[in-house]
Parts: sequence; structure tokens; C-alpha cells
Amino acid sequence: MTRKHWGREAEKKRGHSGLPLIFPPRLMQQGCPLFFAALLTLSAANAETGRQAWLRYQPTQKSTQTIVELGNAPELTSASQELSLALGARITHTLTNNSVVLGTVDQMNFASFPGLQPGGYCLRTIPTKHLSVITALDPPGVLHGTFAWIRHLTLGDNLSQLNETSNPSVPIRWVNEWDNLDGSIERGYGGRSIFFESNNVLPDLTRAGRYARLLASIGINSCTVNNVNANPRVLTSEFLPQIARVAAAFRPWGVKLSLSVDFASPKTIGGLDTFDPLDPRIIAWWNAKTEEIYRLIPDFAGFVLKADSEGRVGPSTYGRTHAEAANLLANALKPHGGILIYRGFVYDHHADWRNLKNDRARAAYDNFAPFNGQFAENAFVQVKHGPIDFQAREPVSPLIAALTKTHETLELQITQEYTGQQRHLCYLAPMWKQVLDFDLRVGGAHTPVGKLVSGLVGVANVGRDDNWLGADLAMANLYAFGRLAWQPSLTAEQIAREWAAQTFGNNRRVVDTITQLEMDSWPVYEGYTGPLGLGTLTDILRGHYGPGIESAERNGWGQWIRAGHEGIGMDRTVATGTGFIGQYPPEVAHMYESLKECPDELVLFMHHLPYTYVLHSGKTIIQHIYDSHYAAAEAAQQFPERWRTLNGLVDQERFTAVLNRLAYQAGHAIVWRDAICSWFLRESGIPDSAGRAGHFPDRIEAEAMQLSGYAMTDVTPWEDASGGKAITCGLANCTAAFAFHGTAGKYDIAVQYFDVNTGAARFTLKLGNDILRSWLADDHFPTKELNGDSSTRITIRNVKLRPEDTMTLEGTPDNGDRAAIDYLEIRRSR
Ligand code: GCU
Repeated sequence: MTRKHWGREAEKKRGHSGLPLIFPPRLMQQGCPLFFAALLTLSAANAETGRQAWLRYQPTQKSTQTIVELGNAPELTSASQELSLALGARITHTLTNNSVVLGTVDQMNFASFPGLQPGGYCLRTIPTKHLSVITALDPPGVLHGTFAWIRHLTLGDNLSQLNETSNPSVPIRWVNEWDNLDGSIERGYGGRSIFFESNNVLPDLTRAGRYARLLASIGINSCTVNNVNANPRVLTSEFLPQIARVAAAFRPWGVKLSLSVDFASPKTIGGLDTFDPLDPRIIAWWNAKTEEIYRLIPDFAGFVLKADSEGRVGPSTYGRTHAEAANLLANALKPHGGILIYRGFVYDHHADWRNLKNDRARAAYDNFAPFNGQFAENAFVQVKHGPIDFQAREPVSPLIAALTKTHETLELQITQEYTGQQRHLCYLAPMWKQVLDFDLRVGGAHTPVGKLVSGLVGVANVGRDDNWLGADLAMANLYAFGRLAWQPSLTAEQIAREWAAQTFGNNRRVVDTITQLEMDSWPVYEGYTGPLGLGTLTDILRGHYGPGIESAERNGWGQWIRAGHEGIGMDRTVATGTGFIGQYPPEVAHMYESLKECPDELVLFMHHLPYTYVLHSGKTIIQHIYDSHYAAAEAAQQFPERWRTLNGLVDQERFTAVLNRLAYQAGHAIVWRDAICSWFLRESGIPDSAGRAGHFPDRIEAEAMQLSGYAMTDVTPWEDASGGKAITCGLANCTAAFAFHGTAGKYDIAVQYFDVNTGAARFTLKLGNDILRSWLADDHFPTKELNGDSSTRITIRNVKLRPEDTMTLEGTPDNGDRAAIDYLEIRRSR
């Protein structure tokens, strides 16, 4: 089966192909509808909220260029309007001496454009004719080319010599949105759904259209609008016309709508007494339902199905296979040119942790490899890039190598579920590049992941927040996803640079600083969270956010780390472990099985080892853990400082918003560092040779202060609070006081406290009778408990202190927020 060709053939069938025909009778004669676009400029008066993302055009003067649009497909109209916005130029039907012409190749006969594929584009400057040409086989391709042309313009590239043909590396470039019909978003950190509210589609879909524009600008061609944990209502005849409105909002941007479906739909909404994929009534039901969809949405892209996973029903109910389930839907879609994406994320979340041979990492391969070759031509198995679940570090899933006769798409996660939830800067393109470039050695040949898959699907989960993902710098991930899906040979740094220039302005210092911050962020995040491939070590039973090391153990979810006093790590070897490593092709399996060759960064994913085991780096595992956590937390302290150097060079709104996020991250990196180091210190009993772990000379524990009204409480898990304890206030007002015993000088005072999401407690820090700072604990962390999700800090800088000064922290609880405090840290100002 030739994988990549599937989508291209299908696009052709749907009529997007064509060969150069004749040069524009239409161009010279009747032309396209004449209209003058309003010369919109995005003035500085517009608040910089991140809404424009990387499409932040700022034409300074009226352009002398004209835009000539050949044809009237909706994507062409979008393209010329977009150019008009970017250039401040007018759209016309007459060629001038300085025109940008856009249209499909069959409308251009003055040149040939070889090598084009569906969706791809050609940008050509023809100096003799004073023309810039943007062309493609199909209207979506022209739109992609237009955005590429604008990108060149924004980046200051030389447009006078342009001769560029670019085709997407894979035909399937989708985003999945995990939006629920009630308007909430599973693992969304940028506000509520831009599609749904109260079990209906939103009346105003302006924002959905704007999102499609963003997606088109990076070459994404489909958006699955609802959660993979699908509500069956989405397929009801009552709801589908509403969904058709979303498809209409996407259409001008060449972005096709797709839907996640619930496998039991024929029973739950269809009134049948079964959903057995082989039952003729079920086949008929899916066929009819699919026809109904295509009547409403003729360019519908297809279905996404999560079955037999995490409580979702699937073919196993009737003893049927994943291939049988997939083919049922694929066959229904086939006559219409649609595709079925079947999620490979299938595992038993009630696995017996006592059985050392059990291993969730094996599940995707064990569930799907046996059916290799049995999936329909328009069915794709969507494989998460790692065998567990979007951890900060995982090996590539071995299933990708196993599906040699089945189409597959690679699932990446743009929303930062396990990588800091957009509160931490974590640019994922370097991780994705490692995945795409990883050579799986299928059949002993060079087979990087990027060449084995027919598509890339990114779980994006944008929301109603102006800046889409909830954090300005996180948008680099959405941008990078699209760019890599189009052209995986781009480097993560190149992508960050072009994103930064378009998003924050093409100033050298701005671009350098932001690019470097982005590039440093994943190693730093990994450095203060889960080490050596253990997984992120976040609390997997609650928010997937702050540290919660043992939440991985002794339950059915299977993210076990097998920690003991003597050692740690899952033994996944063939020789003595779960055999997971044997799922890889032999050369890769050999590398992971052999301790000599297994890279340090994954050694505890693959092996169970004593804390004293010496890594390739020359350090013991335990010392590596201490060192990497202190180094990474220190690097995170520099992030806000580095950002501050851009004061005045980027707009004040986003400068402040980003600074606040980075300052928070710096504090939370310390929470992570201390949780991991304290836990490993206790578990291993081996001290940090540099004497840092467990020693906090500048700290005053809240429970050691003179308390009035405050009471001591245990924090769970214990490693999330200094000393495992905090103080909480059960009255209207409480105080914690202490005397400073250091030498006179200037100090930074950090107050580590808990900010739960039930209310907004007030804190006031006083020096003697003077108020140093008063603030509200009104952030929105994902918990009402005292733990690593809610632990946060405020730092008051350059406070002059003298010996025996008295400091008092006052806490005023609010609605279940008991003004809890962990500790104060007083350090000399730098
Ligand atoms: C993770 C995530 C879930 C999601 C699931 C999936 O487990 O936490 O919210 O539903 O992945 O990808 O299906």
C-alpha cells in the first residue's frame, strides 16, 4: 500500500486537481467580481491581546500593489482579502504594473508550474511582467500559498526573486479539539469552547471562522470540533444542522469539519438494540447517518473514533475487532470521499499493578499490530507519539513501526496537558522533531517516523481566551504543529524564529530572545519534572499538573514507575521485564535492551535500576536527579529576567501578561524541584552530594512561626509542601509572625502559599506596622485542595531588613480558601 498517496488521490477525486489550461480569458475580460476591500490596518490602538496570533499585519502605508483574483472559490476570496489586509492593497480585476495575481494553475497560461501537488502552492515573481503569482492546483492551495507569501513579506524576505514550490509532506493535517457540547473543554486551558455552549452550537461563530483562518495559515486542512470522548447527541438529526453552521464558518478557509463519534450511537440515539459492527441494521444505520451528514456538509472530512478505551464502548462488546469497527465507519464514508480515524490509544485502565509483567506501554501495539493490513483503505489508525500519554519524555510508540500495511496518523498534543498546562512555557517542537526524525529501522532500513505516517493530528483545544491557548508564548506550539505537518524538515528553531517575528515584530533582539526562551523551555521543564524517562511525575489522579509522584503507583492506570528504596524504573526489557522493548524493530530493540546503549534520557522508562547506577554522563541516577532539578529550577528563575530585557520592545499588554506567567513558572519550578528532590531523598536515603536537597537555610516554615488563629495541617501528597505541612486559617482572620535573625541588608522575601479555586483569600505581609504587600489569592489553579497544583508564591524584592525586625503575615479566608501558607524564604537581593 502506498501510504502517502491515499489522501492525494482522494483530493483529486473530490475535484481539487487540474492541469494548466489557458491563460486567463477571465483575467483580461470579465474578470472576477470587482470590489474594493476596506484598507484595514491594525492600528496600534488595537489592544494587543494575542487575538491576531501570528497574523498581526501592520501595513504602514497604502500600497501601490493591486491584487488580482482569478476565480471565485471561497478560498480565493479569503486569499485576496487576506493579501489586502497584509499589504493595504486593493483588490481589482485588471493587471497593473505591480500586481499580485492569485488563482489556480488552470487559470494561468503564461507559465507552467511543474511539481505541484494537491494543497501545495507555487510562488513566483515574474519581473518582466511585474507580476507576483500565487498559484496552486486547487483553491485551498492558493490560500496556503497566499499565507506563505505574506509570511515572506512579514519576515522581510526578498520577494523580487521568489520562485518557490511547496507541497505538504502529508495529506492529513488535522487538529482535534476536545470540546464538550456543554461548552467545557477536556484538557483545555484557554477558556471555554469556541463552538459549543449548553449543548448547542454557539449562535455567533465569528471566532470559529477566525480559528479556521489561523489553521489555514499554517496549512491545517481539517478540524475535529468535539471531544474524542464523544457525546452521541452530535449525530442526532436535531444537532447536525447546527454542526453544518460550523462547517460553513470553516469553509472559506479550506478547513473541513470532522466529528468524533460514539460507537454506541446506533443504540443510544438510533433506537436500535445493538451496535454490533457486523449487524446489517448497524451497517445500514451508519450508512444512512453518513449520507445525512453529507447532505448537510458536502465537504465533510470524516469521523474520529475512540473505542474500547478509558470507559468508551467499542467492538469488544460484541467480540469484534478494531479493524471490523473501523471498517464499518470507513465503508460508510468511502462513497463520499471521507476518512475514518481510529484512535490507537486503547489500553486497560484497570490493569493489575501487582503483576510485574503487565505494562500499559505495550497496549497500543498489542491491540493493533495483530490487525495490520485488515483496515480499509480510507481508515487510519491514529497513534499517540509515545506509548503512554504525552509525557514530558517518552520513546516513540513501537506501533508506528508495526503498522506496515495500515495507514496511520501521528497524534501530537498541542495543549500542554502534562507539560505545564500553558502556565509553564514548554515549546514542544523540539520534542516533536525528535519524534518525526526518530529512525525506527523498519525492515532494517532508514524509516523515520515522519515518513511512516500519512498524517499529523494535533490536539489543540483552543478556547475563548483572546490569545486562544491561554498564554501568548504557548501559541508557538500551535504554529509549529502546522508548520511541521507541512514541512517536517524545518528545524524547531527556524519555526520559533518565524513565529516570534510574526507574533511580536521583526526586531532582532525580540526574535533572538523569544526564540531562545522557547528553545530552552522543554529541556528546562523536563529538568525540574520527571527525570530519565520516568514520565512527568505529575499527579495523574487529579489535575495532571503539579507534582504527585506516587499517584502513578498502585492503581490500574498503568503509569507505574516501580519505585522502591533500592531503585526505580519499569523493567521493560525482553530478558527480565515486560517485553515491551521487543515490540520495536530489532535494531531499536537492541539499543533499548542494552544498558550500554540505552540513552540516559529514557533509561528509567526501559529499565529498573538502583539509585547508585552510574549513567553515561558519569553521575549516579540519584545525583543526576538532584543536579538536574536544581539546574533546571535555576534556569527557570532566569526566564522572567530574560523576558524583562524586552521591556519597551514588545507591546505592554503582552509584555506584562507573559512576564506574569514566567514569574509564576519560576516559583512553581521550585515547587517541582523540592517535591522531586525531597521525595527521592526520602525514598533512596542517599543525600545530595552538593548538600542542597532537604536543606533550606533561608526558609522559615509557616508552622514554625508564632501563630494566632492559624493551625497546622498535613499536605497531600507530602512532597508538595515544604516539610509536608502548611498552616490554614479557620477564623475570619489569622496571623503568623516571626522575627528576622539575619544581618542588616536588602532582601527578597518570597511567600509560598496556596491558592485554591473556591475563593480568593487575602494576604498581607507586614514589616513591623508597615504593609509590605497585600494581595489576593485569586488565580485559577485546577484544584480546591492544598497541593502542588495550588502552591504558588509572591516575591517582594529589595526589602531593607535589620536584625530582630518582626514580620507578620495576615490571612483572611474566603469561601473555602483558608489562606494557607507553606513558608517564607528570605534571601539577599541579587
Ligand atoms: C488522556 C487524557 C484524557 C483523554 C485521553 C485520550 O488520558 O487525560 O482526557 O480523553 O488522553 O486521548 O483519549
